[in-house]
Amino acid sequence: MSKLIVLSNRVNLPTPEGHSAGGLAVALQDALSDIGGVWLGWNGEQIQNQQDQYFNCTEINGIEYITCPLTEQQYQQYYSGFANTTLWPAMHDRDDLITFDPQEFQTYQNVNRLFAEQLHRIAGEDDMIWVHDYHFLSVAKYCRDLGMKNRFGFFLHIPFADLNIWKQLPIAQQLIEHLSAFDVVGLQTEHDQQNCLDVMQYYVGGQIDADILKLSERELKVQCYPIGVNPDLIQQVAQTHDNELENSVFKFDELSNQKTIIAVDRIDYSKGLIERFNAYAEFLNQHPEYHELVTDLQIACPCRMEIPAYEDLYKRVQAKVNSINLKYAQNEWAPINCVHETIQHAQLMQIYRRADICWVNSLRDGMNLVAKEFIAAQDPSDPGVLILSKYAGSAEQMPEAIIVDPESKSSMISALKQAIQMNKAERIERYRHLIRGIKHFDINDWRNAFLKDLKHFNSSLLQRTPIKQATVYRPLVT
Ligand code: UDP
Ligand code: G6P
Repeated sequence: MSKLIVLSNRVNLPTPEGHSAGGLAVALQDALSDIGGVWLGWNGEQIQNQQDQYFNCTEINGIEYITCPLTEQQYQQYYSGFANTTLWPAMHDRDDLITFDPQEFQTYQNVNRLFAEQLHRIAGEDDMIWVHDYHFLSVAKYCRDLGMKNRFGFFLHIPFADLNIWKQLPIAQQLIEHLSAFDVVGLQTEHDQQNCLDVMQYYVGGQIDADILKLSERELKVQCYPIGVNPDLIQQVAQTHDNELENSVFKFDELSNQKTIIAVDRIDYSKGLIERFNAYAEFLNQHPEYHELVTDLQIACPCRMEIPAYEDLYKRVQAKVNSINLKYAQNEWAPINCVHETIQHAQLMQIYRRADICWVNSLRDGMNLVAKEFIAAQDPSDPGVLILSKYAGSAEQMPEAIIVDPESKSSMISALKQAIQMNKAERIERYRHLIRGIKHFDINDWRNAFLKDLKHFNSSLLQRTPIKQATVYRPLVT
């Protein structure tokens, strides 16, 4: 019987220590939980020597986890390096933060080959292989080199940059050729889908026919599949009254006279944290009548701290929160309550339900699951209000949120006022549209739609010719 093999860098291994604060791991856990399969990836650990790099296999609740550590060099050059200081800023339109180092790119290729070899070892002929995110753009190419004829799908959880950005990457030609070794390439939004089709056509040629790129010897499907959440499960978990909530991060019982704003972000420059705090400070400045009546609850999870841009942002976030609290705090009230720990997912759903407003301010974001989770967790008879950046992928499907420009203070300030003052009838009306959209295409629909296309799309794989290897590095265009 054929099985599904999922590959992603981050794997949500259910350990007592907790889990990752990232949309990919949360979504794949939900997508795999009721169909099972194999989940291959990094175990989150680092080792010194490559000789000690072994894959380990454990089965938990019907999912077989096959993971290995990264060497310190792989961690620095593949993960912190090429993936997160070349590809991540490129895909989030931050060309000012892109760096390129040929050695890091080489290590990225080596890690892709390492996981391709493991796929070759474990996959049966009929197994479907579903690769996730920007860490593994080259994996299918190496699997093809090893003679694998399986169906290979790829899903990108982050935005797909436009051609002007790709042209700044000296290895764009090679990477896009590698990407074209997949059969189905999935993106979060229609905008990303168009960018991907245009960029692929530029580098590998062919004709675009709706969502198909017709190459001379085969075809490739490039389609958007907006990732969703599990609304029924979230509703159930959010309703559960967890006593621990009273004793943990935010003391809702002490905030009963406040309008609470919840924000949940990894500390990442794509999330618009500083812009949001600046707008909130200006709101407090312009509206003293709201002092002691509004509290901003921020979960800000540190991540990728070895990368200077992330470490620097972490310090700026702390300094900004301190300065706003110093300026405006009075009596028992502090305008911002910021925590840096990763909250268990179930507890987070309960926090969403207790909050009045959720504010997502991404400057660029693949989807942003927090926006969807917040809506799914609400009490239908008294729902909260979502303020959502127009640059989050979810804004394409959630127009009934209050949509803001995260770079415009005035847009954010008026959105916040509107959210605070919104009457119950309007909150319910907006919520009804939003929850309908979330239920209409949930996490299972997302998985099923992708896998259905992967199973049935005929890319003429059997006549596949070897993919040529580009080796020339062109200098970065600045
Ligand atoms: N998350 C969590 N605990 C935290 C912070 C975040 O479980 O303390 C989860 C959150 O519920 C969501 C994911 O991490 O499912 C973040 O996904 P999102 O798409 O919003 O952003 P990403 O971090 O993937 O860019
Ligand atoms: C985003 C990416 C994921 C990544 C997550 C957390 O959601 O799309 O691939 O896992 O951020 O980042 P990290 O670097 O901690 O895995």
